[in-house]
Amino acid sequence: MQSSLFGGNADVPGDPGKLASAPPSAPLRHIPLLERFEDLVLGEAEKRAALEAVCGEALTCRRCPLSRSRRNVVFGDGNPLSPLVLVGEGPGETEDERGLPFVGPAGRLLERALHANSIRREQIYICNTVKCRAADFDNGRWNNRAPTPEETDHCQSWLEQQLGIIRPLVIVCIGSPAANAVIKKGFKITQERGRWFDTSPYAPWVIAAFHPAYVLRMQGAQQEAAMNLLIQDIGAARKRVIELRKAARAAVAPNVPNEPNEPDSTDPDGPTREQD
Ligand code: URA
Repeated sequence: MQSSLFGGNADVPGDPGKLASAPPSAPLRHIPLLERFEDLVLGEAEKRAALEAVCGEALTCRRCPLSRSRRNVVFGDGNPLSPLVLVGEGPGETEDERGLPFVGPAGRLLERALHANSIRREQIYICNTVKCRAADFDNGRWNNRAPTPEETDHCQSWLEQQLGIIRPLVIVCIGSPAANAVIKKGFKITQERGRWFDTSPYAPWVIAAFHPAYVLRMQGAQQEAAMNLLIQDIGAARKRVIELRKAARAAVAPNVPNEPNEPDSTDPDGPTREQD
């Protein structure tokens, strides 16, 4: 029996710790969106199918002007069975070109922060608050800009449906726009990053971290300090997932000991953690 990233049982089908096994291109049956709470507790195949159905609709979205300049809708990427989801702001140039979140310079830094916590990006699910690139055409080129509140509002229902299907245990909001959409309006990233919130409708526990693009804009010791905080906040999220799953397993089977190679949730530098 193999212990997975968050201490789940990788051999049990449908166990949230099991990594994605179906190829992304596997044909998925369309199921209607479900409304009752019980119906939202989906099995592996249903989750994939429901997500695929919402993604299919999002790919044709014309709700706001961003749809006129986008090259691709960047819906989300990764393992929809993951108990941990990262939500960023919105696609930049490279993401718009490739249709995938966090694959440009900010994405590379984010991957370093994940790696420092022994997490590979394909093990978790990554998406954005806004699914199309926000950019203005100026001086012969498209320049990234922050999405407007209207653009964010138009996109909110895609995020809501996505998170409603995945139902993560923990969300990390990458940057302040994501924290505004997922935690609360008026979120102050410099004061409130690294704190836990249990008031979001999207997950039992939510934390916000600095955006890697913000870290990239800094220099020297300041940059190093901000990067360390990004690593620390992602590490706190991983630790919280491990704790929640241990508690859930103990509640279901109180006499079953944890697996011997399972990371100790009380020790952030536990056995599976690597530093880079
Ligand atoms: N910044 C984001 O917030 N999301 C991306 O996907 C890329 C850069």
